[in-house]
Formats: sequence, C-alpha cells, structure tokens
Amino acid sequence: MSLLTVNNLQVHFNTPDGQVTAVNNLNFSLNQGETLGIVGESGSGKSQTAFALMGLLAKNGVIEGEAIFNQQNLLTLNEKALNKVRASEIAMIFQDPMTSLNPYMKVGKQLMEVLKLHRGMSHSAAFEASVRMLEAVKIPEARQRMNHYPHEFSGGMRQRVMIAMALLCQPKLLIADEPTTALDVTVQAQILTLLNELKADFDTSIIMITHDLGVVAGLCDQVLVMYAGQTMEYGSTEDVFYRPTHPYTQGLLQAVPRLDTEGELLSTIPGNPPNLLHLPKGCPFQERCLHKESRCETEEPTLDEFASGRLRACHHPIDTQVAL
Ligand SMILES: Nc1ncnc2c1ncn2[C@@H]1O[C@H](COP(=O)(O)OP(=O)(O)OP(=O)(O)O)[C@@H](O)[C@H]1O
Ligand SMILES: [Mg+2]
Repeated sequence: MSLLTVNNLQVHFNTPDGQVTAVNNLNFSLNQGETLGIVGESGSGKSQTAFALMGLLAKNGVIEGEAIFNQQNLLTLNEKALNKVRASEIAMIFQDPMTSLNPYMKVGKQLMEVLKLHRGMSHSAAFEASVRMLEAVKIPEARQRMNHYPHEFSGGMRQRVMIAMALLCQPKLLIADEPTTALDVTVQAQILTLLNELKADFDTSIIMITHDLGVVAGLCDQVLVMYAGQTMEYGSTEDVFYRPTHPYTQGLLQAVPRLDTEGELLSTIPGNPPNLLHLPKGCPFQERCLHKESRCETEEPTLDEFASGRLRACHHPIDTQVAL
C-alpha cells in the first residue's frame, strides 16, 4: 500500500520580478520500505519538493496539490498536526549535519532529549537506546562518544550521528537531501551502505535527493529525474540506468564517474538550466538538447507512460542500452 502519494504538487514563489514555479505538477507515490531517488541539477526543484512536504517552505512560497501520507494531506495540516508528523513519522536529514545538531550540546544529550520528549523514555532507557542507535549507525565506541560534542566528530561520523537522530523515533519515511555531497567518495560510499542496511533493518522508506545519479544506483528502487521543476523521466532505477530515454537523463548519466574509465574527465551537460522566470515555450530542456527539433520550441512535451511504470516527457526520446 502506498505510504506517500503526491498529486500535482506545485510550488510557486512570489518574487519582486514575478512568480517563479520551482516545482511544476509533480506526481509520485512511494510504498512502505521503498526508496525513491529524486535527481537533477542545481535549481531543478528537488529541495523545494522536500520542503513542501515537510512544511518548511520560505514565506513567499505557495503550494498547490496534495501529498497524502497515512491518509492525511500533509499540505493542509495545521502546525500542531504537522509537528506531530515531523517528530515521529517523517524525518529529514540535510547535507550539513550542523543544521540539525546543536553545536553546544553533547551528542548523547541531544539524542536522549528526543527520546525523552517524543517517546516518554526515562533517563536510563533513553541513554541505552541512544547508545544502541549510535551502534546501529556504526559509530565506534558509541558509549564513550555519547559524551562528545558534534565538533569532535569527523564529517562522516557527524553525518552518522544525524542519521541516528533522524531514526530515533522510528520514522516511516526518511527524506535525505544531499546527505553525502559534502563527504569524500569513500565516506560517501560508507554512508550509502549504511542507509541500505538501515532500510532493511528498520523498513524505512527513503526519498533520496541528489544531483548525482551514481548515488541512487545502489540505493533506490525508483528514480525521478527533475529539470526546471518538472519530471523528465521516471521509472525503476534499473530501467532508467540501463535504458534511459530522455536526452537529459542520458546527459546526467554521462556525468557519473565510472570505475572502468577512472582518470577520464567527466562530461557535464553544456549550458545551464533555464531561468525559471523566463522559461522557454515548449520543452524546458530544448536549449541544451542535442536532439532538438522544431516541435520542441513550440509544444511542451507531456509526461506519458510509454511502458509499464515508465514515464517521460520528450518529443524525440532515444532508445539506448547503456553498459554500465
Ligand atoms: N524563497 C525563494 N524565492 C524565490 N525562488 C526560490 C526560493 N527558494 C527557492 N527558489 C528557487 O526555486 C528553484 C528550485 O530550488 P531548489 O532548492 O529546490 O533546487 P535544488 O534542485 O534543490 O538545487 P540544489 O541541487 O542546488 O540544492 C531554484 O531556482 C531557486 O532559486
Ligand atoms: Mg537542494
């Protein structure tokens, strides 16, 4: 059964220069225990999608659509009800762990306070549960580490502490916004392995937001590729990886580091995403697309299901078979 169903989500921002649509008509659903990757370059609307779901939009933001989580629409919940969901059912982790950790409070105390407040645990029960959670995220010498401040941990270890904190209340859904971007490649791989293990142990659903398709490869069941606030391509990770059909997805895939071509320069897609205040008529990707035809400049491609469970918005999709 679907844990989260997002229907026609739109996020607009009112700016002095006009209205910007950061998320445009987004639809997806996620079952319990499943992981969805949301991928796209900077500015494609990934974070605003997550912020909209969590009630964290900036003041000039306006939301349309619905996000049904456990039979309630997250987008119309009042602050009190939303706080309850955020405290116990949906957790979010960010690129910078310090946005969630208090630099002046020992890590153990921070973890224990969550358990005391939201799960009514006694001091000693909260202490033991916090140690167990630090062990679950593979922090060595967890018991002693309870007594350390966040700055005494390395970047990767701090990210583990933040994941531990997010999982303390056993959320049904974890939204991770670029949680590994600031880490070096080895530590990044360790965190992804950890998330995979936690997914299996806790049956948590995950929305993994990243600009890097490589990050979703080993973690996500489904991938949604976003560009200029819209879905360009959607499908199972395997399908999107091995048989990408949208030129944008293909461009992103070419930018994924490959083990067998180590040392080669990564290609990036030439050009930049369009200014959301002045979106071109037709396809938003047209200016950077190698396969542009005249229709792309006049007619916006619709998002069509071209095979079971696979969607794309493109006038000239390309059938490819990528050997990764
Ligand atoms: N408060 C705001 N007012 C106006 N525009 C905004 C506001 N917040 C975000 N935007 C715009 O919304 C668009 C989508 O932003 P978003 O943060 O979702 O991008 P992203 O895909 O997460 O990018 P990144 O990979 O850089 O984190 C961007 O063009 C951004 O400038
Ligand atoms: Mg972002």
